[in-house]
Amino acid sequence: MIGRLAPPWDGLLLDARLATLRDDLGAYGAIEDGVLAWKEGLIAWAGPRAELPGEPEALARRVESAQRRWITPGLVDCHTHLVFAGDRALEFERRLQGASYEQIAREGGGILSTVRATRAADEAGLLSASLARARALLADGVTTVEIKSGYGLDLDSERAMLRVARRIGEELGIGVRATCLAAHALPPEYAGRADDYIAAVCEWLPELHAEGLVDAVDAFCEGIGFSPAQVRRLFEVARGLGLPVKLHADQLSDLGGAALVAEFGGLSADHIEYADEQAVRAMAAAGTVAVLLPGAFHVLRETQLPPITALREHAVPMAVASDLNPGTSPLLSLRLAMSLACTHFRLTPEEALRGATVNAARALGLHDRGRLLPGQRADFVQWDIAHPAELAYWLGGGLAHAVHVAGVAHHH
Ligand code: NIG
Ligand code: FE
Repeated sequence: MIGRLAPPWDGLLLDARLATLRDDLGAYGAIEDGVLAWKEGLIAWAGPRAELPGEPEALARRVESAQRRWITPGLVDCHTHLVFAGDRALEFERRLQGASYEQIAREGGGILSTVRATRAADEAGLLSASLARARALLADGVTTVEIKSGYGLDLDSERAMLRVARRIGEELGIGVRATCLAAHALPPEYAGRADDYIAAVCEWLPELHAEGLVDAVDAFCEGIGFSPAQVRRLFEVARGLGLPVKLHADQLSDLGGAALVAEFGGLSADHIEYADEQAVRAMAAAGTVAVLLPGAFHVLRETQLPPITALREHAVPMAVASDLNPGTSPLLSLRLAMSLACTHFRLTPEEALRGATVNAARALGLHDRGRLLPGQRADFVQWDIAHPAELAYWLGGGLAHAVHVAGVAHHH
C-alpha cells in the first residue's frame, strides 16, 4: 500500500455498493458489498468487504454504514457558463413563437443580451447569482465544475467573470476549472471588426493567465461566432502560453471546428452535432474528448444528432455536460443532462455516467478523479437508488444522500 494512504484512515464506509467505473470489472465497475475508505482527501481503499485487510475499527478513525447505498465518483461537469447575470426567459418565449437562435443573435440579442446584463452587474451580485447555480449542481452530485467566461467580452468584465469562477471554488470547496471564452461573440464596440477583436483577445490572454485566472482557452467557432482562421490565431497564442484548448465546434453548422481543435491536440470538441467522420478520426488520433451537450440540443429543438456511432467506432471518449447557460441550456442538473443524453443521443446509462465522471475529468485534463480508485481524490456521492441506471432514469428529484468533496460530506 502506498505509504501516505496506509491506515489509519480518516473515514470508512461499510455496506456500500460501489460503481467504481474501473475497466477491469463488469458493468459500472460494480462491487457489491464494498468498502470505501479515505485519508487526507484521497481515496485510500476501495474494494470488496471480504478483501479488507483487517477490522474496520482498527483501520479507520470513523466507521459508518452506507446502508447499501450506491456510491459513484463525484460528478464532473466539464462545460458550463454558469457565471452570468440576468436571464433569457423572454428570448425563450420568442423562440417558442418561431424566432431562431441565430436570428435573435444577429439582432443583437442572445449572448449579447447576457453580456449587457453581466457588464452591468457588480462582482458581488455576479457571485451570489452564480453561487446559487453552482450549489444546485453540487446538490445533484457535482464535485468538479468547469466554468467559462464569455459574457464580459472586454478585459475587465472577462477578468471579473474568471475571478467569480475562482471564488465559487473557494466558497464551496469544490474543484473549479476556469476557461477563458472571450472569443464567444463579437462585442458591439468591435462591430464589423472581428479580426481586431481576436487580436485584442490575444493580448488579454497572457495578462489573465499571468493573474492565475485561466486553466484553458475556448472559442465559439460558428457563423454567428468566429471563423476557423480566427480561432486558429487564438489557439496559437494559447499554445505559446502552454494553455490547453477546447472548442464550441460544429454545433449549428460544419465549419470543421472539431478537426481544428484536434489538430491543436485539444482537450475536447464540444457540441459537434454537425461534425463528420473525418473529424471523428482526427479526434481519435489526437485523444480529443467529445463533449456532448444534450441540454442545448433539447432546448434548441435540434434534430441533427452528433456522430455517436462514429465516436463509438473510433473509441473517442464521450463526456456529457450541462452546458448550463442562460440561452440554450438553462439546465441546473448534470444528472438531467445524462438523462437527455440517453433519450436524445441513445447513450446507455453507463456511458452517460462515465461521460459525467471519468471522461469528463479527462476532458478537463484531470486524471486524479472520476473513478473510485486508491490515490484518486475522495470525491464521491452516496445515492438513494437501487441501481446505477437510475441516475440517468429519473428526471429531477433529489437522489443524492451525501456528496463528499475530498472526503468531507455535504449532506442534503
Ligand atoms: O454552448 N454556443 C455558444 N455558447 C453557448 C450558448 C451561450 C448563450 O446562448 O448564452 C452554448 O450553447
Ligand atoms: Fe457552451
